[in-house]
Amino acid sequence: MALTRSLTRRDMARLLGAAVAVAAAPAPRTARRADVAPALGPDRRADVDALLRQLTLEEKISLLHGARDPASKGQAGYLPGVPRLGIPEVRLADGPAGVRVTASATALPAPVALAATFAPDLARRFGAVIGREGRALGMDVLLSPMTNIVRVPQAGRNFETLGEDPLLAAAMVAGEVRGIQGEGLIATAKHYAANNFEHARQSVDAQVDERTLREIYLPAFEAAVAAGVGSVMAAYNRVNGVYAAENAHLLTEILRDEWRFAGWVMSDWSATHSGVPAVTAGLDMEMPSGVNFAGLAAAVTSGKLAGSAVDTAVRRVLVQLDRFGLLGGARPRPALDPRAGARTAREIALAGAVLLRNERDLLPLDRADLAGLAVIGPTAAHPLAGGGGSARVIPAHAESPLDALRRQAGPGGRISWATGVDLEGVPVPASALSLRRTPRDGTPQGSTPQGGTSQGGTSQAAAQIDHTGANALPPGTSWTWTGTLTAPETGDYDLRIQGAGGVPAFNGSISLTVGGVRTGSVGALIGGNSSLIATSGGLTNAGGVVHLESGRPTPITITATGAPGTPLQVRLAWITPRRRQEALREAAALAAGARTALVFAFNEGTEGADRASLALAKGQDAVIEAVAAANARTAVVLNTGDPVLMPWLERVPSVLQMWYPGQEGADATATLLLGGADPGGKLPVTFPRRAEDAPTAPAERYPGEGGVAVYGEGVFVGYRHYDANHVEPLFPFGHGLSYTRFAYGGLSVRAAGGGLSVSFTVTNTGRREGTEVAQVYLGPPPRPPVPMPPRALAGFARVRLRPGERRRLTVTVSRRALQYWSDGRWVLAGGRRTVHVGSSSRDLRLRQEVAVR
Ligand code: BGC
Repeated sequence: MALTRSLTRRDMARLLGAAVAVAAAPAPRTARRADVAPALGPDRRADVDALLRQLTLEEKISLLHGARDPASKGQAGYLPGVPRLGIPEVRLADGPAGVRVTASATALPAPVALAATFAPDLARRFGAVIGREGRALGMDVLLSPMTNIVRVPQAGRNFETLGEDPLLAAAMVAGEVRGIQGEGLIATAKHYAANNFEHARQSVDAQVDERTLREIYLPAFEAAVAAGVGSVMAAYNRVNGVYAAENAHLLTEILRDEWRFAGWVMSDWSATHSGVPAVTAGLDMEMPSGVNFAGLAAAVTSGKLAGSAVDTAVRRVLVQLDRFGLLGGARPRPALDPRAGARTAREIALAGAVLLRNERDLLPLDRADLAGLAVIGPTAAHPLAGGGGSARVIPAHAESPLDALRRQAGPGGRISWATGVDLEGVPVPASALSLRRTPRDGTPQGSTPQGGTSQGGTSQAAAQIDHTGANALPPGTSWTWTGTLTAPETGDYDLRIQGAGGVPAFNGSISLTVGGVRTGSVGALIGGNSSLIATSGGLTNAGGVVHLESGRPTPITITATGAPGTPLQVRLAWITPRRRQEALREAAALAAGARTALVFAFNEGTEGADRASLALAKGQDAVIEAVAAANARTAVVLNTGDPVLMPWLERVPSVLQMWYPGQEGADATATLLLGGADPGGKLPVTFPRRAEDAPTAPAERYPGEGGVAVYGEGVFVGYRHYDANHVEPLFPFGHGLSYTRFAYGGLSVRAAGGGLSVSFTVTNTGRREGTEVAQVYLGPPPRPPVPMPPRALAGFARVRLRPGERRRLTVTVSRRALQYWSDGRWVLAGGRRTVHVGSSSRDLRLRQEVAVR
């Protein structure tokens, strides 16, 4: 039942006082040393000034741009330091879901899964795992957390973010920064600012009004600064016509002058567009090289740039190195603690899982289900632990959900698997190929590929390209195959180039070109299309669908450049139209013979590319439809980083969103499915019913027109848009079911600390222990001074309750949550405002009006 009560006069007087205080509120202070690892020793600021005096101009400039690391550990960035003065080399590594270096590291769940926990203390522990491992693995700076807001549902990097709500993202970012830096690793809030999609990301101009910046896109950065973040990364894109990496409004007026940020700003990788203008605007460091900044020395010498501008930038870097104990002698590094990392990864995978739907309580599965369970989908057998691009982490191990289910089900389990969607195919038969192979530079003399193929340069009439396993090519081999491919029947063929052992290359080193179009590229970071899901033999799998006419030869070229020291494996495979149908039929037949069916569905979010569609790719919808038609007891497990469309939803009783759950995701998935834990997460993003319902559906908003993306939806991002326009989402922001039920009551709201204190009682009315995230939303005044959403998240509390247990919760609503941005300052939005409390942004259980003046 909704409650309505006004604030007492005393409460209102305090609120009024708060309004005065708001106007005079000081900018958030940057953190003191207490926010970094406590053992860092006394403040050595004096040393920094002495150091500055001893540095030559060239040495100073060398601290302001990246360089090649002579002893690279596979990390993204490097500064050589100035050893003669005790300024160490500095290594900078990605990223948001774990430390990305050549060595394996704990692959944590994707940050969006962390956001789904609504638990800043888990964000701190998530950060602490990365902080410790980063230090242990020889790193000094972490290129994380990703602090951008989800604006576009199909944006490639949504999985790296902390969701669509600024208040949630701010709370989580602050926790994570404290966790990372508490272990002595310098955190980086990226990508500052308005970096919200991948299409033309290096040049697009985000045209966004100041109020929207302040209310939606900047609060999480501001929170990172308030938490003491050591560095900030300027984004690729332009903001209101000016590149983020030379945007004085962002870098100087807001970051330094208002927020008092004391750290340094580096550019995103190759996002620096100038030397003098960038430094003057407030950029301190070019990454990953010195294309622009190496010229700063000449600019100082010729008088184009004041030496003091360089000193300011260098001081900012040195102050942070000093603050983290990195100056004047090696700081001891901790040992890796992979077990602790794994424990935290598992806990967060459990806590961030979102039960989207659970009709007739199909989940959790019981013994009878496990005695006849059909598991379907490639990501059941090959774990999709994380998204792609610079946030990808290679863990030492990752179990498959199928193995975890079998393990947890024990001897009573009868669990069978079918892929449903074939991602791997079979080697293209010799009958379809006519190929010539030519050795290229670097071919070891005398190497003869195995497998019945003939020597380089000769015609190869009848052989597959399947140099895998025992037939691998010798390390360092470089080959080109050219020829034609002829299909037996007309149709869409998924052509796959699969391999391992190529040289590391930005654009991949094992690639397939079909009809002159690069169709597949193994190992490419940007612009490639390697799947995040390896083949069953562990090969990287890339490719694309090509329409082939029966009997008509299509020219193809395959190139492969092998790395020294590891065999080169190359395979050309395909999934024919016939095989696709067979895989679907096998899955449906398996489901029909089982008591219960579980379909694992996925998308592959990655840096460098947005999704072309919100629909599940590779015919997965058809597989889910077929399985659900064959078995009414079908549950879907989603391994996606962001929303997907679910045309089959009404025919599927249960849907569990596991995101990209990290290296321990399989165990967490099985534990949740079997009821060993309650899925405690809530959606940090809205799931739309249709792509055209999204706030960014008009092309001028996304992907933009003429290189400009107009943020015309203003503050109506995510659920704010759906609520304001009465658009029914598929699943609303904040949604997430539990295996138990919760009742809400006893709301009371009072003024406190310039904001509000909101208290209420949550009771577990079900028969299992469970977790609820209670959410507090705030409505606008009746005549809002500016367009305001019907509800905005103002606070939240996560609570675990035993059956029958009740807990009184108090959520603090900050004074900032009562304000809007206008004419260069925060202004209280006074009047009668409604406080809502509930289980999601659309499952509001309690309501009370308060007078805010
Ligand atoms: C990404 C950053 C990343 C950097 C270094 C860039 O392409 O946008 O997020 O930190 O590469 O890998």
